[in-house]
Amino acid sequence: MKKIILITGWIGYIWSHSVVAFEQAWYKIVIVDNLSNSSLETLENIEKIIWYKPDFFEVDLRDKNKLEKVFEKYNFDWVIHFAGLKAVWESCEKAELYFDNNINWSNILFWLMKKYWVKNIVFSSSATVFTSDNKSPLDESMQTWNCSNPYGTTKFLIENILKDLAKFSWFRVMNLRYFNPIWAHSSWFLWEDPEWIPNNLMPFIFKVATWELRELKVFGNDYNTIDGTWVRDYIDVVDLINWHLKAYEKLSPLNPPLQEGEKKWFFKTYNLWVGKWKSVLEMIKATEKIVWKKIPYKIVDRREGDLDEVYCNPEKAKKELGWEAVISLEESLENSWRFYNK
Ligand code: NAD
Ligand code: WQD
Repeated sequence: MKKIILITGWIGYIWSHSVVAFEQAWYKIVIVDNLSNSSLETLENIEKIIWYKPDFFEVDLRDKNKLEKVFEKYNFDWVIHFAGLKAVWESCEKAELYFDNNINWSNILFWLMKKYWVKNIVFSSSATVFTSDNKSPLDESMQTWNCSNPYGTTKFLIENILKDLAKFSWFRVMNLRYFNPIWAHSSWFLWEDPEWIPNNLMPFIFKVATWELRELKVFGNDYNTIDGTWVRDYIDVVDLINWHLKAYEKLSPLNPPLQEGEKKWFFKTYNLWVGKWKSVLEMIKATEKIVWKKIPYKIVDRREGDLDEVYCNPEKAKKELGWEAVISLEESLENSWRFYNK
């Protein structure tokens, strides 16, 4: 029988890409999303790939009664918790909204999980939990506190809430941190295509390449990096999803069984990155090679709330989960460009 997974926030950018991988791995998926940053159109596109509509409920996590009805209807094995607000700049302006949406309303979800004995959870965390005092390459043993923006604080706090739920309420938690996932799905039905002016680098670069936007603004070039522009670790979204499937296998209580002497509570954190970094100017150059044209840009002031140099050491994931990113930057850029240019 298929295992049933409740996925919150699943028709957002990253998670709509994982539908095929989940189907192949034989899971039944139930989605709740309040459509605050997604649309039913994505669900229709998902249907074009898998030939049926996954069970979907338009539910805001704050609506406990409506959410409880979903828990009553299904016997969930896992929860994958992706729902949340995620824009760093917005979190600086509307911290209280971020604390409500990401923390308080997540807690409603945890409350219901406990009530219905659903104790396995995979949580989407972020590299923003690291302080700017941590020097890249970041690894899982580094301190996370004093985050540089409220969005990061929400992730830091949820990580710690889940740690306590693991210790005292027997939750089994896979805490996955990632930062710069990018690119289009090879089916071309799913992609990151914000209709408004994008915040993130890659959609912006592609919109400049297609002349939808005039030029890219590069946020500062006076950092202590290879060329003065900020450095990130960009991961293909398909690699990211495969990594999640590995994590789910590990989360299953029977795989592996607890060893004698092993801690009785299960909370594991993995940084989910490639382990290679690129500066903003290097990303522009790499894209220019793929699109065969110049990307006009101008250097402007630094952006508030951002970390400067962020890349990681992915050794723990490699060693413990046997995971490694396999999709090259060039391949990712080519996939994206095929979509944007079609
Ligand atoms: P997204 O905004 O595209 O998707 C999040 C989804 O959650 C949206 O569909 C939105 O409608 C839904 N949602 C938000 N608040 C909700 C609520 N209260 N109730 C129900 N649904 C709600 O974001 P994404 O890029 O797919 O990211 C998914 C998760 O991964 C987020 O938790 C994000 O913080 C985390 N993450 C994303 C990135 C990234 O760069 N995209 C990096 C690291 C971590
Ligand atoms: C990448 C680089 C910018 C746009 C954000 C969130 C982070 C995470 C992923 C969830 C940076 C530079 C960008 C532009 C630019 N999400 N840039 N001009 O800031 O690394 O991470 O998304 O957890 O929390 O902060 O990603 O794509 O916005 O920026 O120069 O118009 O490109 O300064 O160095 P970022 P990004």
